[in-house]
Amino acid sequence: MKLVLLGPPGAGKGTLANLLKSSLNILHISTGDILREEIKNNTTLGQEAKKYIDNGKLVPDELVTRLIKNKFAKDDRISKGYMLDGYPRTEQQAQDLDKILKEEKKLLNYAIYLDSTLPVIIQRLGGRRICRKCGAVFHIKNRPPKKEGVCDLCQGELYQRPDDNKTTIETRMKEYLTNTKPIIEYYKKQGILVTVDSDEESEDVQTILMKTFNENGKSHNH
Ligand code: AP5
Repeated sequence: MKLVLLGPPGAGKGTLANLLKSSLNILHISTGDILREEIKNNTTLGQEAKKYIDNGKLVPDELVTRLIKNKFAKDDRISKGYMLDGYPRTEQQAQDLDKILKEEKKLLNYAIYLDSTLPVIIQRLGGRRICRKCGAVFHIKNRPPKKEGVCDLCQGELYQRPDDNKTTIETRMKEYLTNTKPIIEYYKKQGILVTVDSDEESEDVQTILMKTFNENGKSHNH
């Protein structure tokens, strides 16, 4: 199964991907997570990406597409299927991805659009906490850890992402509306778009999607 997850910041792409990952047994590739790892390791790419991410701006297309190409070339697990979370994010990236897939003679099965409303997004991003050690995602109200500030899974320290502040969230939303929302139409035209109401519980969204996958089969329109 080859999927892309589309949706505004805070729609729950990462949370849903973590649930789907185990039911589908496929790789979860988040460009946001890869870029944050590069920043943490202070690589040249990380230093470049940080300038954009800290301001809520999109990282240049060629830089993220290079990351995806590398991942596809180096990770053997790709052949078993994957879920792209946060890529593509512009029409150029959608075209770049199609080009990569064509070269591999493979097609996407689904583009999942997580449709979410602004008040929900703001509430989710404002309360999100992430484990410094294992990257697990919590929410102070919606998905609170058992012990405040401590990861349930590995006891690592929980932190708030620097781009989860009001001003940066506004810029991220603007970037989403201008650059990313239009590519929903791109996948609709390809006949592989599935829209879900992402204001709902992630487990309910997961159930709906698994039902869709089982009914339509892996190949969908292809
Ligand atoms: P990225 O990390 O991809 O951020 P994003 O798209 O803004 O998405 P988020 O990670 O903020 O949200 P999410 O939808 O995954 O929500 P989550 O599941 O965590 O990208 C960061 C930056 O990197 C970008 O701004 C850009 O600069 C750069 N970048 C990345 N990819 C790029 C690309 N392709 N091109 C250019 N630049 C790129 O959930 C949020 C919170 O809500 C959590 O606390 C969670 O517990 C809670 N929650 C989630 N779902 C539910 C639910 N159903 N009910 C209740 N609570 C929920």
